Amino acid sequence: MQPATDDSAQLTATRGAAAHPLARLSADEVHAARALIEGSGLVTPSTRYAYLALEEPTKAEVLAFQPGDPVERRVRAILLDVANGRTHDVLASLTRAEVQRVAEVDTGAGGQAPILLEEFIAVDEIVKADAGWCAAIARRGITDLSLVRPCPLSAGDFGLPGERGRRMLRVLSFVAHRPEDHCWAHPIDGVVAYVDLVERSVVELIDHELLPVPKEEANIDDPSYVGPVRTTLKPLEISQPEGPSFQVADDVVTWENWRFRIGFDPREGLVLQQISFTDGTRERPIIYRASIAEMVVPYADPSPVRFWQNYFDAGEYLLGQQVNSLVLGCDCLGEIHYFDAVMADGEGKPREVSNAVCMHEEDYGVLWKHTDIFTESQETRRQRRLVVSFFTTVGNYDYGFYWYFYLDGTIQLEVKMTGVIFTSSYVADSPWASQVGPELGAPYHQHLYSARLDMMVDGLTNAVDELDAVRVRAGGANPHGNAFTRSVTRLTRESEAARVAHPAAARVWHVVNPQSMNRLGRPVGYALVPQGQPLLLAADEAAIRRRAAFATRHLWVTRYDPAERYAAGDLVNQHPGGDGLPAYAAQDRSIDGEDIVVWHTFGSVHFPRLEDWPVIPVDTCGFTLKPVGFFDRNPTLDVPASTSRHCH
Ligand code: NI
Repeated sequence: MQPATDDSAQLTATRGAAAHPLARLSADEVHAARALIEGSGLVTPSTRYAYLALEEPTKAEVLAFQPGDPVERRVRAILLDVANGRTHDVLASLTRAEVQRVAEVDTGAGGQAPILLEEFIAVDEIVKADAGWCAAIARRGITDLSLVRPCPLSAGDFGLPGERGRRMLRVLSFVAHRPEDHCWAHPIDGVVAYVDLVERSVVELIDHELLPVPKEEANIDDPSYVGPVRTTLKPLEISQPEGPSFQVADDVVTWENWRFRIGFDPREGLVLQQISFTDGTRERPIIYRASIAEMVVPYADPSPVRFWQNYFDAGEYLLGQQVNSLVLGCDCLGEIHYFDAVMADGEGKPREVSNAVCMHEEDYGVLWKHTDIFTESQETRRQRRLVVSFFTTVGNYDYGFYWYFYLDGTIQLEVKMTGVIFTSSYVADSPWASQVGPELGAPYHQHLYSARLDMMVDGLTNAVDELDAVRVRAGGANPHGNAFTRSVTRLTRESEAARVAHPAAARVWHVVNPQSMNRLGRPVGYALVPQGQPLLLAADEAAIRRRAAFATRHLWVTRYDPAERYAAGDLVNQHPGGDGLPAYAAQDRSIDGEDIVVWHTFGSVHFPRLEDWPVIPVDTCGFTLKPVGFFDRNPTLDVPASTSRHCH
């Protein structure tokens, strides 16, 4: 197939256009990538682009880059032929105008391409064309199929006969009373369809039991349901009369001493690159690349209709792809800078999401304070943070990912979880679900995330120490029994670095640079402070433990390898498991004074409350990175006292 002439022109114009190796793909580059891939003969009318994104150069190439150096721009595409399920993994150089690698994916052993947006629509058509499914719905008293909302739910891998290598989704359904009625209030429980997306058929229908379809409506946008709106809240406005304190140039953000680059990937969403802090005259690197590399939402209900519910919202649903455009909402307050995101749609054409990433500053209360009883001096300084965030909607849930940079060198990630809980018919005294309304249940579940933190604390030679608070037996050096101390254990190999949090011991992990000393001659470091919430709770025998093995440890440390990007492996959709972190760590490389990547699992266990219905007030989870001996003293002594007129 010949590339279209307009695409050829754009391809030529694109060569060498990017100013930095990590610059985000432009719409022109997406056009060029599509033209190049089509020109290779790989694309048929039924080929879809399940993923297309910048293939970042290696860390060594990026670190060696000087402004003005030539930049090779490469893309990776995962092509899915929806007519036959054949899947190709393609690497192409836009700069050289060549397809450099084409590999056909063994979808049985290697997993399926991520779920396409058009497959959301396909499942609706497939189940509604199936006589057995229609009869099962009719048995539940539902006659108007146009109001039934089948959900395209990832199938996982449970060794079910005939499924491996087949492109599957499982379908639970909801029903609306009217087109504008929110369907989540009315789950059609007891029946699930297993769908083959290539054959476009229901291959198995499990009609397990007749359960009542909850009737009570819960429309958060209907005044008759919501009731009178309160009138007591006075306006609260953030005013920055001199503008914000940050600058943005070609996606590079500088704010106070911080500097980093904004990236955006259809799978990971917001990516922060080359995070550094200028300390005096030195620009000191801290993290080379930070992202959410995977997340999984495993459900606890063992019902024959629901035991398979485990959603990898990054690897299966591409959480970046589902990013919200923050045009209409009030997600951020103050002087806001928005970044648009450019991604490829299923046809490989650029799709721009305006206002995808939001950045603003927030006052964050007191930074430090002291009233001296001897000198009578009183000093107070206010904390401020830079917030870089995006919101994504994956089905019923809405997730906000908020990165915070503080004046004192602290970095924090907070995930905001809101939206609508996935509902069920409530079965009396269920040990697996909460009741949130008449006949309405909300199955227990977890939200587990893997942050991939490619650390670079003062350079590439990093190591990780585990520190615990330790009680000391009375006697000897501790005659009065008051002593306690701290143990420090260097994690020297990958096999030693798959660790679990221990909140009762205040366990933290210090990422140190053994070659960079602070003024006291000790290695500089950053502490990863975990929240220590429960890891994957499913039993050892559960299939999800093979597929989400990353979520069985709070910490993994691996040697940097540009090919090791995702905590649950590359193609997660229907992957049988074993890929990702357990496979990376099985190499048992040295991680002591090496170029290392720290992977942190964090999350929450969600036992839904009555107050989580019909929309969840934001719940949060996350982690903190704090400088420990990275600076020679409190780095915020130069913050001036506040002069705000609101300050007295
Ligand atoms: Ni939840």
